Amino acid sequence: MQEFIYYAPTKVYFGKGKQREVGEIIKGYGYKKIMLQYGKGSIKKSGLYDEIMASLTASGIEVVEMGGVEPNPKITFVREAVKLAKEEKVEMILAVGGGSVIDSCKYTAAGAASDCNPWDFPTRKSTVTEALPVGCVLTLAAAGSEMSSSAVITNLELNMKRGFNSDFNRCKFAICNPELTYTVDKYQTACGVVDIMAHTMERYFTVCDPTDLTDRIAESLLKSVVDAGKVLMENPCDYEARATVMWASSLSHNDLTGCGRENALAVHQLEHALSGEFDHIAHGAGLAVLFPAWGRYVYRYNIPRFAQFARRVWEVTEADDEKAAVLGIERMAEYFASLGMPVRLRDFGIEGDCMDKLADLCTFGKQRSVKSYVDMDYDVIKAIFESCY
Ligand code: NZQ
Ligand code: ZN
Repeated sequence: MQEFIYYAPTKVYFGKGKQREVGEIIKGYGYKKIMLQYGKGSIKKSGLYDEIMASLTASGIEVVEMGGVEPNPKITFVREAVKLAKEEKVEMILAVGGGSVIDSCKYTAAGAASDCNPWDFPTRKSTVTEALPVGCVLTLAAAGSEMSSSAVITNLELNMKRGFNSDFNRCKFAICNPELTYTVDKYQTACGVVDIMAHTMERYFTVCDPTDLTDRIAESLLKSVVDAGKVLMENPCDYEARATVMWASSLSHNDLTGCGRENALAVHQLEHALSGEFDHIAHGAGLAVLFPAWGRYVYRYNIPRFAQFARRVWEVTEADDEKAAVLGIERMAEYFASLGMPVRLRDFGIEGDCMDKLADLCTFGKQRSVKSYVDMDYDVIKAIFESCY
């Protein structure tokens, strides 16, 4: 096990009805004026907006509203939000939504506490040294942003999706009521299941010393999520399955499943190039195509690891390591397909002549390679994209 620092400062309020405590929770921190961000309307349709506003009003919290965050949130929206947050001198930012809303709030929080262009954070031209606090009411179990140190944003002018990590990106609190996810449709639910699994598998497939405990935490999480995902395809209002997936969302990306291991999210780098270029692609759906394609390419560089994954997560009984490794990847691909996820890039309706562009975006114009069991340079990345077209 390698040395590590584990830092998970987010206070989690988990369970039924917890969203109605949001006003009291914020009051407890002493904040009197906040910015509320939400998405394109799901919280109004479900009645959650009214519940949140009632709770905030009852606690005497003044609210500055900024609705309309798009999936794959945009830097243009953040710039407007930063301006408003500064003008109104809000003390904290409350996200009510999924990963897109939370990430938009993280960028707003960092931007509002500095004079930097928020796009300079993911492009490493500026470092975050201060940020307003962010809290969230989670409505979709997927990105893990509620406990992660990451924030991902899209710049449509450049067709680029970029993220950065910072402890300033950690939410102060996360309110997680699994019932709030009952209204998430099958497709987004499946995207969430894939993303949660991907956050765990990315950390599982890194170079490291033996990490038996971390391995087994990751494998258990994966097995639970696989089972819960199957249940949710049949019954979207199964509380226990929603609860399993919601808690797994947080644990899969708060670094728990990576303690003692290298931390590189290789397939995410490929996916961010994909959904950065094609804004209509949901992050989890992109991962559902790319993860098996990446696995088929890299498994030969660490056959024992892929064989362990196959046997422990997918209950493959094949004795030969290489055959087992391949079977594990195929079981994963079949599972994603069984959730209704796309299987090939062409399923997204994109043309096959974009592979150079995607490889270029992913390598920042051939300026970098992506670390995995083998260094993935421009040619390798292009080959992986082509293999799943
Ligand atoms: O906009 P609304 O109307 O709210 O609808 C959303 C959106 O259309 C809908 N939705 C959310 N909660 C719902 C609901 N619909 C019905 N009932 C509910 N309770 O779902 C759609 C997708 O929402 P979005 O927030 O975009 O999904 P997700 O949580 O998967 O977030 C994806 C974003 O997070 C980034 C992705 O790249 C992508 O931009 N990621 C962020 C990470 C992080 N910060 O740690 C890590 C991830 O790897 C990921 O990259
Ligand atoms: Zn992800």
